[in-house]
Amino acid sequence: MKAAVYYENGGPEVFRYEDAPDPECHPKGIVIRVEAVSIEGGDVLNRFGGQLVTRPHVVGYQAAGEVVEVGAEVTGLRVGQKVVTVGSHGSHAELRAVPAATAWAIPDGMDVRQAAAVPVPFGTADDCLFEFGRMKKGEVVLVQAGASGVGVAAIQLAARAGAAMVLATASSDERLEPLKPLGLTHGINYRTQDVVQEVARLTDKHMADVIVDSVGGPTLQTSILSLAYRGRVSMVGNAGREPQRVDVGTLMGGNRSLSGVFLGAEIMTPRVRDNIQRLIGDVHTGALKVLIDREFPLSEAAEAHRYIESRQAVGRVLLIP
Ligand SMILES: NC(=O)c1ccc[n+]([C@@H]2O[C@H](COP(=O)([O-])OP(=O)(O)OC[C@H]3O[C@@H](n4cnc5c(N)ncnc54)[C@H](OP(=O)(O)O)[C@@H]3O)[C@@H](O)[C@H]2O)c1
Repeated sequence: MKAAVYYENGGPEVFRYEDAPDPECHPKGIVIRVEAVSIEGGDVLNRFGGQLVTRPHVVGYQAAGEVVEVGAEVTGLRVGQKVVTVGSHGSHAELRAVPAATAWAIPDGMDVRQAAAVPVPFGTADDCLFEFGRMKKGEVVLVQAGASGVGVAAIQLAARAGAAMVLATASSDERLEPLKPLGLTHGINYRTQDVVQEVARLTDKHMADVIVDSVGGPTLQTSILSLAYRGRVSMVGNAGREPQRVDVGTLMGGNRSLSGVFLGAEIMTPRVRDNIQRLIGDVHTGALKVLIDREFPLSEAAEAHRYIESRQAVGRVLLIP
């Protein structure tokens, strides 16, 4: 198969588009012919500094396509079926193998490219808001990096759950604009505005009950300082690539809490599996929207990663083999 591979960590220039061994089908797994790769925030971070568990390494969490092989112990999936898959690596390729437990059926008639972009961002945002953030109707939600994959999902999920207000941050006004039709009440451009002061102003000093923070670093402290009494931050990523230092003392006075969220730890549980299947269905019916910013051929993986790192993309960038 052809794949976008690398032999060392680094910038987008480390990608080579070349022949790589076909992945093998595990008895409990499947192999798909990839039709669309959704480049996840974690893929960019892994290329930059993650472990190379294969050599050359094929990076990537999420891809959708057609099942071409089914392991002997797998039930419920068949050759020819369209699925979206998640795995620890291997999405940036023409073929990818995953455990059957991290493959979800794509409903008949659903666009494979849309489905490709659902499980990780929507499953993660849902857990951040509800499972760990315990969000209730009428609460104020703040989404850091609202134009990110996780952000686009979190804004919609919070709005449909009846948030009193959905606030989100981004690095420019242009990046906030496309989030308004998704349910964003007010955008905060963190380059020109003070986030804590803006949250105070917009909420009449109530502040945010639930915050989804996939940026980390100094942003995480800003999140804690933006919390309402008994507010909860779901800390879910480190897109900012800076050390995660917070003053935990700032949590105590307001009975506030900070939870770490890692979808991968529970992705094979019936709770998360069912939740992701439901979210795929919601995108299919149009109840939730996937924003696909741009598509690149798989052979231009370096260009696609470079584009993501330029911070122009709102939502997802896809690779098409
Ligand atoms: N724990 C989990 O289970 C889990 C699941 C999914 C994702 N994640 C993590 O969550 C993070 C976001 O993932 P994603 O897929 O939503 O990412 P994404 O779509 O690539 O978006 C990341 C966003 O972060 C913002 N950002 C802030 N500082 C940045 C910096 N220094 N460099 C680059 N971007 C920066 C950018 O928006 P602005 O320019 O507008 O600030 C950018 O759009 C990643 O760290 C990922 O690993 C974790």
